[in-house]
Amino acid sequence: MLTKELIKENLADLEEKYVGHLVKRFSEWEVWATASQKIANREEVKEHEIPMVFHVELKMMRVILEMEDLGKFDWNDPRLSQLFREVTKDPFYTFFGEMITEISLRLANLAGVKTFLEIGAGRAHLTDIMLKQMSDKDQSIPLVATDAQSVILENIGTLKDAYPQVNRKYC
Ligand SMILES: C[S@@+](CC[C@H](N)C(=O)[O-])C[C@H]1O[C@@H](n2cnc3c(N)ncnc32)[C@H](O)[C@@H]1O
Repeated sequence: MLTKELIKENLADLEEKYVGHLVKRFSEWEVWATASQKIANREEVKEHEIPMVFHVELKMMRVILEMEDLGKFDWNDPRLSQLFREVTKDPFYTFFGEMITEISLRLANLAGVKTFLEIGAGRAHLTDIMLKQMSDKDQSIPLVATDAQSVILENIGTLKDAYPQVNRKYC
């Protein structure tokens, strides 16, 4: 059975790496906390007042607020797609994806998990990271990737070609 102690013990090195990275990267979090509250209150905030490291969050927040004002969140909004494209180019995205994948794999091994389910795989960048790690570690946990948008089928098709060994095992 997974206990809090077991999880902490098995993830201690990852926790240290993750916290260390975050503390360094987002050291100016208080500036963003204040600015994002102002933006949420619909007060004016100039882009140059916000550290570069939060600029994607800034753009994302503005689009989300605009949608909120229109009364509808739309995953198909092209501005959102463009922003997610930008996000996935940021090294932090890869760091984060690799981290949660490593955590998932370790916990899956500890708990004897038989299947991974990714809900909302989008462009399948995280799926790609998961398949790469499983392939590198020669681990084989079936991965089911879903999305509300049918484009996921194309993205998964591309991944199947990129990881034929995984394809043979799981599909
Ligand atoms: C942020 S994007 C993809 C993130 C992706 N998992 C990654 O880390 O790169 C979120 C995706 O969730 C999908 N989505 C939103 N609501 C959903 C739902 N109820 N069921 C399945 N997919 C959903 C959207 O279509 C979108 O492609």
